[in-house]
Amino acid sequence: MADFLNYAGKRVIVSGCFSGMGEATARTLVSLGAEVHGVDYKETALSLASFNNIDLRDPASIDAAVAKIGGKVDALFNCAGLPQTFPPLDVMKVNYIGTKHLTEAVIPLMGEGSAIASISSTGGLGWSRRIPLLIELISVAGFEGALKWCEAHPEAVNEGYSFSKELVIVWTMLQSSTLIKKGIRINCTLPGPTQTPMMKEFESATADIVLKTAMQPIDRRSTPQEQANALVFLNSEISSYVNGVVLPVDGGFMGGVTTGQIDLRPMMSGAAS
Ligand SMILES: NC(=O)c1ccc[n+]([C@@H]2O[C@H](COP(=O)([O-])OP(=O)(O)OC[C@H]3O[C@@H](n4cnc5c(N)ncnc54)[C@H](O)[C@@H]3O)[C@@H](O)[C@H]2O)c1
Repeated sequence: MADFLNYAGKRVIVSGCFSGMGEATARTLVSLGAEVHGVDYKETALSLASFNNIDLRDPASIDAAVAKIGGKVDALFNCAGLPQTFPPLDVMKVNYIGTKHLTEAVIPLMGEGSAIASISSTGGLGWSRRIPLLIELISVAGFEGALKWCEAHPEAVNEGYSFSKELVIVWTMLQSSTLIKKGIRINCTLPGPTQTPMMKEFESATADIVLKTAMQPIDRRSTPQEQANALVFLNSEISSYVNGVVLPVDGGFMGGVTTGQIDLRPMMSGAAS
């Protein structure tokens, strides 16, 4: 079969390569012949072109890792994340502020035909209710500036998870209009409940009904590989006209909600995954 994805020899960066969806993504990209540079605050067991220890809560560590990787970068996979069981500002730093900082550091290394894919969440479904507020924070330049904004708006940040995931969605859509002028695409995914190490945190923080509802209509959890497949597809050449898309990878959950077949109320009343 022709290799439509065409990752052979491509230089890619995967954040969150230690476990879960990021690990599955990095492993898949290696098997497709890509030159994979992993970044995480926990060292990967995978055999990659390079592993760079970064803490997404620390912009200096991000800048140092990107400088070390250097060269031309064809694709960035933003897979690192923290659940709502961590302090809200840490969640904000990893899921949004640090992820945006990493992306902005990598973009100058990208050229025509490059692509960025980030993982948001169905937990960010409330994004459309507060677009002006989300754009207000997205417009704040720099890691420290964004952090100060969050410190000054604890009621908006709340537990951090939903707000950070809403930001990834709106930031992706906003960036898609400007980055495409440089030939760079940016998209994100909305995974349904996925069997990764993070799942036990969601189980401890969330009512059973929330996870059960989010699993409808397919009625099973996703594997990390199923999430990696969508990310690998989005950042591949075969998706060359796919840009600014927020792609649900949720077994039909969004379709069921939009057509009124899934009652969202139990989910919205609890903490969403
Ligand atoms: N598992 C789910 O059900 C689910 C559902 C929707 C969205 N998500 C999102 O998917 C993404 C991947 O999560 P996962 O489920 O694979 O969980 P995971 O815990 O297996 O992976 C998260 C990765 O992020 C890394 N990480 C955490 N903090 C970091 C930091 N400060 N600096 C650098 N790396 C850091 C971890 O070491 C790990 O490798 C996350 O953004 C998560 O919010 C998960």
